[in-house]
Amino acid sequence: MDSAPKTPVTAVIVVAAGSGQRLGYGMPKAKVPLGGDSILTHALRGVAGSGIAQQICVAIPPGDPELLALCEAFTQELKAERPDTPGDGEAGDVPVVTIVDGGATRAESVRAGLAALLPATEAVLVHDAARALTPEAVFHRVSRALTAGALAVIPVMPVVDTVKTVQPTSGDGAAIAPELVTGTAARETLRAVQTPQGFEVATLRRAHAAAAAFDAGQAAAVTDDAMLVELLGVPVHAVRGASQSLKITTPLDLIIAEGLLEGPLGVRWVEG
Ligand code: C5P
Repeated sequence: MDSAPKTPVTAVIVVAAGSGQRLGYGMPKAKVPLGGDSILTHALRGVAGSGIAQQICVAIPPGDPELLALCEAFTQELKAERPDTPGDGEAGDVPVVTIVDGGATRAESVRAGLAALLPATEAVLVHDAARALTPEAVFHRVSRALTAGALAVIPVMPVVDTVKTVQPTSGDGAAIAPELVTGTAARETLRAVQTPQGFEVATLRRAHAAAAAFDAGQAAAVTDDAMLVELLGVPVHAVRGASQSLKITTPLDLIIAEGLLEGPLGVRWVEG
């Protein structure tokens, strides 16, 4: 008898509804050109290439015709790769692509995605479109942990810098420097957190249902999905991320991402 655990029916929510102000392109970040395509197209190809998803649900800024067209072009690209399959998300088929209107915050965009998942979905990965070059191996590590029984799993990287906490300087000290150090974190226990973050679907729904009642201050402090699951007291597991999985946020990040794409091996083949 085969006792290997069964891979859960998996959806990937790609959140791409941010404004991208810090990148300074004057357009939503997902549209910004990268290696001849858009950031969003790279992100979607990475998800599809991993082969883990029966559904890819993309949250874009409401009423954005260009991003809608990019998603539709990606759907056609998938179908053209395997023209003989019906495109209904069954095993071995191309994933179903669903497009939803994102919200005012990242968490609201995730909730819009959760509301549009196929009823059979058992596991969900939430991925930032801004991490356009995430290697397929990272999707596989997250997916394997879910198959092995994790309710929540995140990809992480060791922190190379020493990290300190600070507070604004008050009184006479303000003339010297704007901030005062209050402590030094133990670097060996720190991890920088990436996406895709994976969850048993009911666990993530429960976490987001609790967060929907947050006030504006609490909502602003939510920077990833795992922290909402932590608040439920559910264990969050960590697997290895990848340095190519950088979140394209500033103009420097875009230069690095362009450089990675031009690398001799092609970025997705380099293990992080
Ligand atoms: O702004 P931040 O760096 O947190 O964005 C992370 C990801 O969340 C990006 O891919 C961005 O497009 C997405 N996002 C979203 N809806 C928002 C804000 C951010 O989908 N309202």
